[in-house]
Amino acid sequence: MASTTRRRNTRSSVKKRGGTEFYPHHLIGIGAHKEVFGVTSNIQAKSVVKPILTSEDREKMPIIIDESDSKNVVMVRPKNSLNSYDAGKFGEEMRLQSRFSELGLAPKVLKINTELKNHEGYTPYAYTYRCNFDICDYEFKAIQKGLKSLFNAVAAEGYIYTDIKQGNICILDEGGRRTKNNKFAFVDFDQDYVYHYKGFNVTNSGNEAYVDTEEIVSDIMEFIFIIIEMKFCGERLNCVFCKNLTDMAERLVELKDKYDNFRLNTYPMISENGNTIMELLGVDIPRVNPAEFLVAYLELDPYDYETTMVYQSVMETLNSVLNREIKTKSKSKSKSKSKSKTRSKSKSKSPSKTEKKYTPNPIDSPSAKEMTPSGALRYAWKMRK
Ligand SMILES: Nc1ncnc2c1ncn2[C@@H]1O[C@H](COP(=O)(O)OP(=O)(O)O)[C@@H](O)[C@H]1O
Ligand SMILES: [Mg+2]
Repeated sequence: MASTTRRRNTRSSVKKRGGTEFYPHHLIGIGAHKEVFGVTSNIQAKSVVKPILTSEDREKMPIIIDESDSKNVVMVRPKNSLNSYDAGKFGEEMRLQSRFSELGLAPKVLKINTELKNHEGYTPYAYTYRCNFDICDYEFKAIQKGLKSLFNAVAAEGYIYTDIKQGNICILDEGGRRTKNNKFAFVDFDQDYVYHYKGFNVTNSGNEAYVDTEEIVSDIMEFIFIIIEMKFCGERLNCVFCKNLTDMAERLVELKDKYDNFRLNTYPMISENGNTIMELLGVDIPRVNPAEFLVAYLELDPYDYETTMVYQSVMETLNSVLNREIKTKSKSKSKSKSKSKTRSKSKSKSPSKTEKKYTPNPIDSPSAKEMTPSGALRYAWKMRK
Protein backbone atom coordinates (compact mmCIF):
# COMPACT_ATOMS: atom_id res chain seq x y z
CA MET A 1 0.00 0.00 0.00
CA ALA A 2 2.99 2.21 -0.28
CA SER A 3 1.43 5.39 -1.35
CA THR A 4 3.51 7.26 -3.83
CA THR A 5 2.40 10.56 -2.47
CA ARG A 6 5.07 13.10 -2.80
CA ARG A 7 4.80 15.12 0.26
CA ARG A 8 3.17 13.39 3.14
CA ASN A 9 3.13 10.27 5.17
CA THR A 10 0.00 8.84 6.72
CA ARG A 11 0.27 10.71 9.96
CA SER A 12 1.41 14.12 9.14
CA SER A 13 -0.74 16.83 7.82
CA VAL A 14 0.30 19.19 5.09
CA LYS A 15 1.16 22.66 6.24
CA LYS A 16 0.76 25.42 3.73
CA ARG A 17 1.00 29.11 3.80
CA GLY A 18 -2.12 30.29 5.59
CA GLY A 19 -2.80 27.03 7.38
CA THR A 20 -3.08 23.31 6.94
CA GLU A 21 -4.64 21.33 4.15
CA PHE A 22 -7.91 19.67 5.16
CA TYR A 23 -10.09 17.15 3.34
CA PRO A 24 -13.64 15.89 3.74
CA HIS A 25 -13.91 13.13 6.29
CA HIS A 26 -17.08 11.43 7.39
CA LEU A 27 -20.68 12.17 6.59
CA ILE A 28 -22.41 14.33 9.16
CA GLY A 29 -25.58 15.39 7.36
CA ILE A 30 -27.71 14.47 4.43
CA GLY A 31 -30.74 15.96 2.71
CA ALA A 32 -32.72 15.22 -0.41
CA HIS A 33 -29.99 16.56 -2.67
CA LYS A 34 -26.81 17.16 -0.73
CA GLU A 35 -24.45 15.52 1.71
CA VAL A 36 -22.31 17.20 4.32
CA PHE A 37 -18.96 16.05 5.70
CA GLY A 38 -16.70 16.96 8.58
CA VAL A 39 -13.04 17.56 7.75
CA THR A 40 -9.68 16.06 8.67
CA SER A 41 -6.09 16.91 7.80
CA ASN A 42 -5.23 13.25 7.54
CA ILE A 43 -5.87 12.13 3.99
CA GLN A 44 -5.66 8.49 5.06
CA ALA A 45 -8.11 8.90 7.91
CA LYS A 46 -10.67 6.15 7.92
CA SER A 47 -14.27 7.03 8.25
CA VAL A 48 -16.22 5.41 11.05
CA VAL A 49 -19.38 5.56 9.04
CA LYS A 50 -19.87 4.37 5.48
CA PRO A 51 -17.05 5.83 3.46
CA ILE A 52 -18.57 7.68 0.55
CA LEU A 53 -15.41 9.27 -0.72
CA THR A 54 -12.19 7.42 -1.44
CA SER A 55 -8.85 8.88 -0.43
CA GLU A 56 -8.36 9.80 -4.06
CA ASP A 57 -11.64 11.69 -4.19
CA ARG A 58 -10.87 13.41 -0.94
CA GLU A 59 -7.44 14.47 -2.03
CA LYS A 60 -8.98 16.38 -4.92
CA MET A 61 -11.01 18.52 -2.54
CA PRO A 62 -8.56 20.24 -0.28
CA ILE A 63 -9.06 23.40 1.68
CA ILE A 64 -6.42 25.33 3.56
CA ILE A 65 -7.61 26.42 6.95
CA ASP A 66 -6.26 27.08 10.37
CA GLU A 67 -6.04 23.92 12.45
CA SER A 68 -8.00 25.56 15.23
CA ASP A 69 -10.86 26.19 12.83
CA SER A 70 -11.17 22.66 11.56
CA LYS A 71 -13.87 21.54 13.96
CA ASN A 72 -16.06 24.36 12.71
CA VAL A 73 -15.75 23.59 9.03
CA VAL A 74 -17.81 21.29 6.83
CA MET A 75 -17.84 20.31 3.19
CA VAL A 76 -21.16 20.34 1.30
CA ARG A 77 -21.77 18.76 -2.06
CA PRO A 78 -24.58 17.41 -4.22
CA LYS A 79 -25.13 13.69 -3.71
CA ASN A 80 -24.99 12.95 -7.43
CA SER A 81 -22.69 14.08 -10.17
CA LEU A 82 -24.18 16.83 -12.27
CA ASN A 83 -24.17 18.29 -15.75
CA SER A 84 -22.47 21.63 -16.15
CA TYR A 85 -25.72 23.58 -15.86
CA ASP A 86 -26.60 22.04 -12.51
CA ALA A 87 -23.02 22.37 -11.29
CA GLY A 88 -23.38 26.06 -12.05
CA LYS A 89 -26.63 26.16 -10.10
CA PHE A 90 -24.88 24.61 -7.12
CA GLY A 91 -22.32 27.40 -7.37
CA GLU A 92 -25.09 30.00 -7.43
CA GLU A 93 -26.72 28.39 -4.45
CA MET A 94 -23.51 28.63 -2.47
CA ARG A 95 -22.99 32.22 -3.56
CA LEU A 96 -26.48 33.06 -2.34
CA GLN A 97 -25.60 31.45 0.98
CA SER A 98 -22.47 33.54 1.01
CA ARG A 99 -24.55 36.70 0.56
CA PHE A 100 -26.81 35.74 3.42
CA SER A 101 -23.85 34.87 5.58
CA GLU A 102 -22.67 38.46 5.31
CA LEU A 103 -25.95 39.42 6.91
CA GLY A 104 -25.43 36.89 9.68
CA LEU A 105 -28.25 34.75 8.32
CA ALA A 106 -26.23 31.77 7.11
CA PRO A 107 -22.93 30.06 7.91
CA LYS A 108 -19.99 31.63 6.11
CA VAL A 109 -18.85 30.06 2.84
CA LEU A 110 -15.10 29.51 2.65
CA LYS A 111 -14.57 27.95 -0.75
CA ILE A 112 -16.65 27.00 -3.77
CA ASN A 113 -15.46 24.67 -6.52
CA THR A 114 -17.70 23.98 -9.51
CA GLU A 115 -14.96 22.68 -11.82
CA LEU A 116 -14.18 19.28 -10.35
CA LYS A 117 -15.28 16.33 -12.48
CA ASN A 118 -15.21 12.57 -12.52
CA HIS A 119 -16.10 10.19 -15.35
CA GLU A 120 -19.83 10.69 -14.65
CA GLY A 121 -19.93 14.45 -14.60
CA TYR A 122 -19.30 17.43 -12.37
CA THR A 123 -18.80 16.86 -8.65
CA PRO A 124 -18.81 20.39 -7.27
CA TYR A 125 -18.31 21.09 -3.60
CA ALA A 126 -18.10 23.92 -1.11
CA TYR A 127 -16.69 24.46 2.34
CA THR A 128 -18.68 26.40 4.90
CA TYR A 129 -18.78 26.87 8.62
CA ARG A 130 -20.58 24.29 10.62
CA CYS A 131 -23.74 24.94 12.55
CA ASN A 132 -26.11 22.78 14.47
CA PHE A 133 -29.74 22.60 15.31
CA ASP A 134 -31.74 19.84 16.86
CA ILE A 135 -35.30 20.97 17.28
CA CYS A 136 -35.70 18.39 20.04
CA ASP A 137 -33.35 20.37 22.28
CA TYR A 138 -35.90 23.14 22.61
CA GLU A 139 -39.47 23.83 23.44
CA PHE A 140 -41.28 25.68 20.70
CA LYS A 141 -41.69 28.71 22.93
CA ALA A 142 -37.96 28.89 23.59
CA ILE A 143 -37.13 29.34 19.92
CA GLN A 144 -40.19 31.11 18.60
CA LYS A 145 -38.72 34.60 18.94
CA GLY A 146 -35.29 33.69 17.58
CA LEU A 147 -36.84 32.13 14.52
CA LYS A 148 -39.12 35.08 13.97
CA SER A 149 -36.06 37.37 13.90
CA LEU A 150 -34.59 35.17 11.18
CA PHE A 151 -37.80 35.33 9.14
CA ASN A 152 -37.99 39.11 9.60
CA ALA A 153 -34.40 39.55 8.50
CA VAL A 154 -34.82 37.41 5.39
CA ALA A 155 -38.02 39.29 4.45
CA ALA A 156 -36.21 42.58 5.02
CA GLU A 157 -33.70 41.49 2.35
CA GLY A 158 -36.53 41.12 -0.15
CA TYR A 159 -36.47 37.33 -0.07
CA ILE A 160 -38.83 34.63 0.98
CA TYR A 161 -37.44 31.31 2.22
CA THR A 162 -40.10 28.66 1.74
CA ASP A 163 -38.43 25.35 2.57
CA ILE A 164 -38.49 26.11 6.26
CA LYS A 165 -37.94 23.12 8.47
CA GLN A 166 -35.55 21.83 11.07
CA GLY A 167 -33.09 20.41 8.50
CA ASN A 168 -32.60 23.77 6.83
CA ILE A 169 -32.23 25.80 10.00
CA CYS A 170 -29.26 26.01 12.28
CA ILE A 171 -27.85 28.02 15.11
CA LEU A 172 -24.72 30.00 14.42
CA ASP A 173 -22.05 29.31 16.94
CA GLU A 174 -20.98 32.72 18.10
CA GLY A 175 -17.52 32.04 19.37
CA GLY A 176 -18.57 28.83 21.04
CA ARG A 177 -20.88 30.61 23.41
CA ARG A 178 -24.19 28.97 23.80
CA THR A 179 -26.17 32.04 24.50
CA LYS A 180 -29.73 32.20 25.54
CA ASN A 181 -30.52 34.28 22.52
CA ASN A 182 -29.56 31.81 19.85
CA LYS A 183 -28.77 33.28 16.46
CA PHE A 184 -30.76 31.29 13.96
CA ALA A 185 -29.69 30.94 10.35
CA PHE A 186 -30.57 29.01 7.23
CA VAL A 187 -28.51 26.46 5.38
CA ASP A 188 -29.60 25.23 1.94
CA PHE A 189 -30.14 28.09 -0.48
CA ASP A 190 -31.83 26.15 -3.24
CA GLN A 191 -33.09 28.94 -5.46
CA ASP A 192 -36.27 27.10 -6.26
CA TYR A 193 -37.29 27.72 -2.67
CA VAL A 194 -35.48 30.94 -1.76
CA TYR A 195 -36.30 33.86 -4.01
CA HIS A 196 -37.25 37.51 -4.34
CA TYR A 197 -40.86 38.37 -3.63
CA LYS A 198 -40.69 41.45 -5.82
CA GLY A 199 -44.07 42.16 -7.41
CA PHE A 200 -46.00 40.52 -4.59
CA ASN A 201 -49.58 41.63 -4.90
CA VAL A 202 -51.17 41.28 -1.50
CA THR A 203 -54.52 42.75 -2.41
CA ASN A 204 -56.83 42.86 -5.39
CA SER A 205 -58.90 45.70 -4.01
CA GLY A 206 -56.79 48.37 -5.62
CA ASN A 207 -56.14 49.84 -2.21
CA GLU A 208 -52.87 49.86 -0.39
CA ALA A 209 -52.59 47.17 2.20
CA TYR A 210 -52.32 48.42 5.75
CA VAL A 211 -49.54 46.06 6.54
CA ASP A 212 -46.03 45.92 5.15
CA THR A 213 -45.23 43.33 2.52
CA GLU A 214 -42.17 42.50 4.60
CA GLU A 215 -44.32 41.72 7.59
CA ILE A 216 -46.65 39.61 5.47
CA VAL A 217 -43.75 37.60 4.03
CA SER A 218 -42.32 37.01 7.49
CA ASP A 219 -45.74 35.87 8.72
CA ILE A 220 -46.01 33.45 5.80
CA MET A 221 -42.64 31.95 6.73
CA GLU A 222 -43.67 31.64 10.35
CA PHE A 223 -46.93 30.02 9.35
CA ILE A 224 -45.14 27.49 7.14
CA PHE A 225 -42.63 26.60 9.84
CA ILE A 226 -45.23 26.08 12.53
CA ILE A 227 -47.71 24.11 10.47
CA ILE A 228 -45.02 21.76 9.12
CA GLU A 229 -43.38 21.05 12.47
CA MET A 230 -46.73 20.83 14.21
CA LYS A 231 -47.80 18.21 11.74
CA PHE A 232 -44.54 16.30 12.37
CA CYS A 233 -45.25 16.29 16.10
CA GLY A 234 -46.97 13.02 16.79
CA GLU A 235 -45.60 11.56 13.59
CA ARG A 236 -41.84 11.52 13.27
CA LEU A 237 -41.26 14.09 16.02
CA ASN A 238 -41.93 13.11 19.56
CA CYS A 239 -39.90 15.26 21.87
CA VAL A 240 -39.87 18.31 24.08
CA PHE A 241 -40.44 20.64 21.11
CA CYS A 242 -43.93 19.22 20.81
CA LYS A 243 -44.78 20.14 24.38
CA ASN A 244 -46.21 23.47 23.31
CA LEU A 245 -48.61 22.25 20.66
CA THR A 246 -51.36 24.45 21.99
CA ASP A 247 -49.13 27.50 21.67
CA MET A 248 -48.29 26.55 18.11
CA ALA A 249 -51.94 26.09 17.27
CA GLU A 250 -52.85 29.35 18.91
CA ARG A 251 -50.13 31.21 17.08
CA LEU A 252 -51.38 29.79 13.79
CA VAL A 253 -54.90 30.87 14.62
CA GLU A 254 -53.56 34.30 15.46
CA LEU A 255 -51.76 34.57 12.13
CA LYS A 256 -54.81 33.31 10.32
CA ASP A 257 -57.12 35.74 12.11
CA LYS A 258 -54.77 38.63 11.44
CA TYR A 259 -55.26 38.26 7.70
CA ASP A 260 -58.96 37.58 8.00
CA ASN A 261 -59.24 41.16 9.12
CA PHE A 262 -60.59 42.86 6.03
CA ARG A 263 -59.41 46.25 7.21
CA LEU A 264 -55.85 45.19 6.46
CA ASN A 265 -56.77 45.05 2.79
CA THR A 266 -54.99 41.79 2.10
CA TYR A 267 -55.93 38.34 0.98
CA PRO A 268 -56.36 35.90 3.86
CA MET A 269 -53.54 33.57 5.00
CA ILE A 270 -55.68 30.54 4.16
CA SER A 271 -59.05 30.52 2.53
CA GLU A 272 -61.83 28.11 1.77
CA ASN A 273 -62.65 29.56 -1.57
CA GLY A 274 -60.42 32.36 -2.75
CA ASN A 275 -56.88 33.55 -3.24
CA THR A 276 -54.53 33.72 -0.32
CA ILE A 277 -51.36 35.62 0.48
CA MET A 278 -49.53 32.27 0.55
CA GLU A 279 -49.93 32.03 -3.21
CA LEU A 280 -47.61 35.02 -3.61
CA LEU A 281 -49.63 36.42 -6.49
CA GLY A 282 -47.53 38.63 -8.72
CA VAL A 283 -44.22 37.02 -7.79
CA ASP A 284 -42.06 35.28 -10.34
CA ILE A 285 -42.15 31.84 -8.73
CA PRO A 286 -39.37 29.43 -9.72
CA ARG A 287 -41.20 26.20 -9.04
CA VAL A 288 -44.06 25.97 -6.56
CA ASN A 289 -45.59 28.75 -4.51
CA PRO A 290 -45.68 28.40 -0.72
CA ALA A 291 -49.28 27.18 -0.76
CA GLU A 292 -48.47 24.43 -3.27
CA PHE A 293 -45.32 23.64 -1.38
CA LEU A 294 -47.32 23.24 1.79
CA VAL A 295 -49.72 20.97 -0.03
CA ALA A 296 -46.78 18.68 -0.83
CA TYR A 297 -45.57 18.75 2.77
CA LEU A 298 -49.03 18.06 4.04
CA GLU A 299 -49.03 14.99 1.79
CA LEU A 300 -51.61 16.25 -0.62
CA ASP A 301 -51.14 16.48 -4.34
CA PRO A 302 -49.60 19.81 -5.35
CA TYR A 303 -50.46 19.04 -8.94
CA ASP A 304 -54.14 19.32 -8.12
CA TYR A 305 -53.59 22.32 -5.92
CA GLU A 306 -56.66 24.21 -4.88
CA THR A 307 -56.81 26.78 -2.16
CA THR A 308 -59.31 24.63 -0.22
CA MET A 309 -56.72 21.87 0.21
CA VAL A 310 -54.46 24.02 2.35
CA TYR A 311 -57.40 25.37 4.29
CA GLN A 312 -58.79 21.96 5.12
CA SER A 313 -55.46 20.44 5.95
CA VAL A 314 -54.46 23.27 8.26
CA MET A 315 -57.83 23.17 9.99
CA GLU A 316 -57.56 19.42 10.32
CA THR A 317 -54.13 19.67 11.91
CA LEU A 318 -55.19 22.48 14.20
CA ASN A 319 -58.20 20.51 15.23
CA SER A 320 -56.37 17.27 15.87
CA VAL A 321 -53.71 19.10 17.85
CA LEU A 322 -56.19 20.92 19.98
CA ASN A 323 -58.15 17.76 20.57
CA ARG A 324 -55.05 15.82 21.41
CA GLU A 325 -53.98 18.49 23.87
CA ILE A 326 -57.30 18.31 25.55
CA LYS A 327 -57.32 14.53 25.72
CA THR A 328 -53.78 14.26 27.09
CA LYS A 329 -54.57 16.79 29.72
CA SER A 330 -56.06 14.33 32.17
CA LYS A 331 -52.93 12.15 31.98
CA SER A 332 -50.28 14.77 32.51
CA LYS A 333 -52.37 17.31 34.28
CA SER A 334 -50.01 18.28 37.04
CA LYS A 335 -47.05 19.39 35.01
CA SER A 336 -45.63 20.53 31.73
CA LYS A 337 -48.54 22.69 30.81
CA SER A 338 -48.20 26.32 30.08
CA LYS A 339 -50.02 28.28 32.70
CA SER A 340 -51.46 31.05 30.68
CA LYS A 341 -53.80 30.10 27.94
CA THR A 342 -54.28 26.43 28.46
CA ARG A 343 -55.52 26.62 31.98
CA SER A 344 -59.02 27.69 31.26
CA LYS A 345 -59.32 24.97 28.69
CA SER A 346 -57.97 22.26 30.87
CA LYS A 347 -60.69 22.84 33.38
CA SER A 348 -63.49 21.98 31.12
CA LYS A 349 -63.23 18.54 29.65
CA SER A 350 -66.53 18.64 27.90
CA PRO A 351 -66.73 17.14 24.42
CA SER A 352 -67.87 20.49 23.13
CA LYS A 353 -64.16 21.29 22.86
CA THR A 354 -64.14 19.52 19.55
CA GLU A 355 -66.35 22.26 18.18
CA LYS A 356 -63.98 25.11 18.74
CA LYS A 357 -64.34 28.06 16.48
CA TYR A 358 -61.57 26.83 14.17
CA THR A 359 -63.32 23.62 13.32
CA PRO A 360 -66.37 24.19 11.26
CA ASN A 361 -66.17 20.62 10.15
CA PRO A 362 -64.13 18.24 12.27
CA ILE A 363 -62.27 15.76 10.13
CA ASP A 364 -60.41 12.62 11.19
CA SER A 365 -56.88 13.15 12.30
CA PRO A 366 -54.13 12.91 9.66
CA SER A 367 -53.03 9.54 8.44
CA ALA A 368 -50.32 7.82 10.42
CA LYS A 369 -48.20 7.37 7.32
CA GLU A 370 -44.81 8.84 7.94
CA MET A 371 -43.98 11.99 6.10
CA THR A 372 -40.39 12.92 5.51
CA PRO A 373 -39.53 16.40 4.36
CA SER A 374 -37.24 15.14 1.65
CA GLY A 375 -39.97 12.83 0.46
CA ALA A 376 -42.41 15.69 0.15
CA LEU A 377 -39.82 17.76 -1.60
CA ARG A 378 -38.95 15.07 -4.06
CA TYR A 379 -42.63 14.63 -4.65
CA ALA A 380 -43.20 18.31 -5.31
CA TRP A 381 -40.16 18.29 -7.53
CA LYS A 382 -41.32 15.29 -9.51
CA MET A 383 -44.76 16.72 -10.03
CA ARG A 384 -43.38 19.92 -11.44
CA LYS A 385 -40.34 18.99 -13.40
N1 LIG B 1 -23.13 24.17 7.67
C1 LIG B 1 -23.63 23.01 8.13
N2 LIG B 1 -23.20 22.52 9.33
C2 LIG B 1 -23.69 21.36 9.81
N3 LIG B 1 -24.62 20.61 9.19
C3 LIG B 1 -25.09 21.04 8.00
C4 LIG B 1 -24.63 22.27 7.41
N4 LIG B 1 -25.27 22.43 6.24
C5 LIG B 1 -26.10 21.38 6.11
N5 LIG B 1 -26.01 20.54 7.16
C6 LIG B 1 -26.77 19.29 7.37
O1 LIG B 1 -26.86 18.57 6.16
C7 LIG B 1 -28.21 18.42 5.75
C8 LIG B 1 -28.34 18.57 4.24
O2 LIG B 1 -27.95 19.86 3.85
P1 LIG B 1 -28.88 20.76 2.94
O3 LIG B 1 -28.06 21.95 2.55
O4 LIG B 1 -30.17 21.04 3.61
O5 LIG B 1 -29.08 19.83 1.67
P2 LIG B 1 -30.37 19.37 0.83
O6 LIG B 1 -30.40 20.26 -0.38
O7 LIG B 1 -30.08 17.95 0.46
O8 LIG B 1 -31.58 19.52 1.70
C9 LIG B 1 -28.98 19.47 6.53
O9 LIG B 1 -30.30 19.05 6.78
C10 LIG B 1 -28.18 19.59 7.81
O10 LIG B 1 -28.57 18.59 8.73
MG1 LIG C 1 -32.16 20.91 3.01
